[in-house]
Amino acid sequence: MPARILDGRAVAREIRAEVTSRCERLRRERGVVPGLTVVLVGDHPASQVYVRNKETAAREAGLRSQTLRLPATVGEAEILERLEQLNRDARVHGILVQLPLPAGIDAQRVLQCIDPEKDVDGFHPLNAGRLALGLPGFVPCTPAGILELLRRNGIELAGRRAVVIGRSNIVGKPVAVLLLREHCTVTICHSRTKDLPAVASEAEILVVAAGQPGMVTGDYIRPGAVVVDVGIHTVRDEATCRRLFGDDPQRLASVRERGGTLVGDVHPLQARERAGWLTPVPGGVGPLTIAMLLRNAVLAAERAAGMGSW
Ligand code: GUN
Repeated sequence: MPARILDGRAVAREIRAEVTSRCERLRRERGVVPGLTVVLVGDHPASQVYVRNKETAAREAGLRSQTLRLPATVGEAEILERLEQLNRDARVHGILVQLPLPAGIDAQRVLQCIDPEKDVDGFHPLNAGRLALGLPGFVPCTPAGILELLRRNGIELAGRRAVVIGRSNIVGKPVAVLLLREHCTVTICHSRTKDLPAVASEAEILVVAAGQPGMVTGDYIRPGAVVVDVGIHTVRDEATCRRLFGDDPQRLASVRERGGTLVGDVHPLQARERAGWLTPVPGGVGPLTIAMLLRNAVLAAERAAGMGSW
């Protein structure tokens, strides 16, 4: 039986509807419109798209959203100064600095400058530390979205064996901590892990944030496992498309007519045959990242208005 689909779009829709009604309540009861500012430095092509999508989604949910665009040549001191201004601005409840930053800028210094109460990405060391200690705080959006997707599909976590492939601060580490908090037995794998397929195939819950298109083939997947694919890449050539999607006419048409099709870190055909549950790409984890950002932003506004707690 092919894997059941974990529909990220459907769960993201639910979360966005909840955010919309929380925005309405803030406006009605406190006259507050939650404000989100995204800081985009330079012209990284994928970041431009992500930031535009975040801005549109925020507006649709009823937030006041603005993007502060700075040239790639901007100095670190100016970025810090702009962030200090945003920290002081009471209309701005959430601040997000889109990563990656241009070479030569110390991302950690920049992230540490954001007021932890406005840190809707959860990347400030105070929020990362809270997460590690099991204290309430802002949780990074993609990991929080993954947990929400599993929870809302009724997937049991306590006592189960989870493997995370990838150890980034944005996804791998925080998702491992969240799974641990749900009482999974968690292993984190990375590029130096020996015999990765053997370790991965012990997982009942497999989260893949490896950054390699189609890397996780069937031999990585325990039959019936829940597979969460965090990767997103564009496949532009027909041979790779056929290797990943077989003769799927829609995928082939997309490569031929639109110049590419999206794939994650998991081999879609092989995973479908072995996994019990699978997140599609697109339409899996991606939509949840934005939905959780909006939820963090409305939470920041509620906290500022004395109306909400973590
Ligand atoms: N770049 C890739 N993912 C993310 C994210 O979740 N937040 C930010 N700020 N930048 C990113």
